[in-house]
Amino acid sequence: MTDYLATQRRMVDAALEGLLPGEDVEPYVIHRAMRYSVFAGGKRIRPVLCLEGARALGRGEPARIFEVACSLEMIHTYSLIHDDLPALDNDDLRRGRPTCHKVFGEAMAILAGDSLLTLAFEVLGHVGDSRLVAELARASGTVCGMIAGQVHDLEGEKLPPTAELLDKIHRAKTGALLRSSVRMGAVHGGACDDELDALSRYGEHAGLAFQIVDDILDVEQTSEALGKTAGKDAAQNKITFPAVYGLDVSRRMAEEQRAMAHDALKQFGPAAGRLRQLADLITDRKA
Ligand code: IPE
Ligand code: IPE
Ligand code: MG
Ligand code: MG
Ligand code: MG
Repeated sequence: MTDYLATQRRMVDAALEGLLPGEDVEPYVIHRAMRYSVFAGGKRIRPVLCLEGARALGRGEPARIFEVACSLEMIHTYSLIHDDLPALDNDDLRRGRPTCHKVFGEAMAILAGDSLLTLAFEVLGHVGDSRLVAELARASGTVCGMIAGQVHDLEGEKLPPTAELLDKIHRAKTGALLRSSVRMGAVHGGACDDELDALSRYGEHAGLAFQIVDDILDVEQTSEALGKTAGKDAAQNKITFPAVYGLDVSRRMAEEQRAMAHDALKQFGPAAGRLRQLADLITDRKA
């Protein structure tokens, strides 16, 4: 799995390299800021889920799948740059480096996020399937998408941590984009309704497992291991799985989501093997 992931990440990075304007393109500073954050060493979980969403269908790799995969990483990196801004989580460390605004200033970090968001849709526009554009916009947006989740997350800092609000936050802020990562790969690969339903269920459960584990790691890990500031959630009064359920129950819930992700893949054969492994990786990861 490690070799496989390293290879996939290298391929995604090579595709991103070709899609992002070079640092020698004017205005230099914005391209430096975008590249600083994109090439800081993310896990590339979303693009890899997208690639495997297509491959699970067992019909070979569709043309331009890497552009689809990269559009997801662009949106994700934009969301991280903005998540770290002083007005949101106010973080100094991301992907093992000072955050974008620490290096380039707040104005340029806001614009770098905006630029990645814009570029994602330019890239996807060239792929030429309006269903993918709509899916990515929805998953990133204000109706049950990433921005909705960020809004609930920020407002939640002042509210009592209830299970209901927790579910709403996590499904939207992280779950929606992870679910859509698998779905966009599947749609691009020509999935039929039945296949798409099953892969959507997989993505939903893998997405929830992902954020439960993110919350647990924030409590249990060091900043060094995570490459981002540990212990921030409690310090900022965030509504997280450990805050609502405690660590033991949270771990059990991540396991349940993993099992449901596996269950959703029953109808697929060996072609979905990597998706099974990715659900395990998401649940077992230590960073
Ligand atoms: C971190 O996402 C932010 C969340 C949505 C929880 P990742 O853990 O995928 O971050 P990178 O891309 O590897 O840095
Ligand atoms: C951020 O969630 C999710 C998005 C960027 C949409 P968190 O605030 O938990 O992410 P980290 O822990 O800072 O990576
Ligand atoms: Mg946040
Ligand atoms: Mg944060
Ligand atoms: Mg977090």
